Amino acid sequence: MKRIAVLSSGGDAPGMNPAIRAVVRTAIYNGIEVFGIKEGYKGLMEGNLEPMNLSSVADIIQRGGTVLRTARAEEFMTEEGFNKALNVLEVFNIDGLVVLGGDGTLKGARDLAKAGIPVVGIPCTIDNDCGYTDYTIGFMTAVDTVVDAISKIRDTSTSHGRANIIEVMGRNCGDIALYAGLAGGAESIIVPELYFDVSKVAQKAMQGKNRGKLHHIIVLAEGVGNAYEIAEEMVNLTSIDTRVTILGYIQRGGIPSAFDRVLASRLGNRAVELLIEGNGAKAVGMVDNKVIDLNIEDALDIEKQFDEEMYEMANVLSI
Ligand code: F6P
Repeated sequence: MKRIAVLSSGGDAPGMNPAIRAVVRTAIYNGIEVFGIKEGYKGLMEGNLEPMNLSSVADIIQRGGTVLRTARAEEFMTEEGFNKALNVLEVFNIDGLVVLGGDGTLKGARDLAKAGIPVVGIPCTIDNDCGYTDYTIGFMTAVDTVVDAISKIRDTSTSHGRANIIEVMGRNCGDIALYAGLAGGAESIIVPELYFDVSKVAQKAMQGKNRGKLHHIIVLAEGVGNAYEIAEEMVNLTSIDTRVTILGYIQRGGIPSAFDRVLASRLGNRAVELLIEGNGAKAVGMVDNKVIDLNIEDALDIEKQFDEEMYEMANVLSI
C-alpha cells in the first residue's frame, strides 16, 4: 500500500472532517501517500484528485461539513460512469480507497470492492440508518442540534400554551426523532417504523393540558408524512393551537460533537490500518463501544433495527 485516496459522498454529516483528518494522518504516519478526491464519486469519475499532506487536515477537527466537498452522483451508478472511476484510480496509481458516506455511498464502495479495488467504507450520515453499526458519524451531533431546537421551541410553546410539531430528518429512519425526542422530553415521538394514531397523540395532549401542562412537543420523523396535515388534525381533535417547525438542513451542519469526533477518529484510523493489513472490501463501525469491521457486502445486508424498547421508555417518561 503506497498510495491511497479518500472521498466523502452523499449528504454531508458533522464529523466527516475529523474522519478525513484521521485517514490522512494515519496514512502519512505509516509512510503512505494520500490523495483527496473532491466531490465524492463525481470527482472520482472526473479525476478531481489532489495530494494531501499533514497541513491539509490541520484545523479541521472542529469544522462541520467536509473539506473534500460532496455530491450525489447518479452517473457513478451507470456502467460508463463506474468505468471512468476505475480508470482514474488506475491512472493515479491508487492502491486503496477510503469512502465516507451513508448507505448509497457504501453501496458504491461495495461495487468498487467487487471490481477488485481495496476499499474501506466509513459510515457517515446523520440518519443513523446503517444496521451493522450502533452509530454513524454525524448522528449524535444532529441529535444535539435537534435537542437545542426543542428546548427553544418548548419555551415559546409554554408561553403560548401551544402544541408544536418539530419535523426532523432521517429519511426512513426514526432514530433522530427517537433520540432527540427522548433527550428533549417530547410528549410524542412519531417515527416511520411504528404505526401511529393521531387520536392517541391528541388524547395525550389533552391529558397534559387538563393537568396544567402548557406545552406539547411532538417530534415527527420526516419519513412519516406531512407535518401540516398532522397539525390540522391535532387542531380539529383538540382545539389546541398547533404550530409546525421543519428543522431541515440545520441538522446537517455545525461543529461536530465530541462523541462524533472520537468516533470519526477511531473509524478513520482503523480504515487505514485495514488497508495496510491487506483487508480491502470492508466497512468499519462501532458496536458496544468497540471498533468493528465487516465484509462490506455483509455489512450492507444487516437490516437496521429500530429500538422499540427505548421508544416505549420515552413514552413512559413523557406521560
Ligand atoms: O441522508 C441525509 C439526509 O439529510 C436525510 O436525512 C434527508 O432526507 C436527505 O439527506 C436530504 O437530502 P438532500 O441533501 O439531497 O436534500
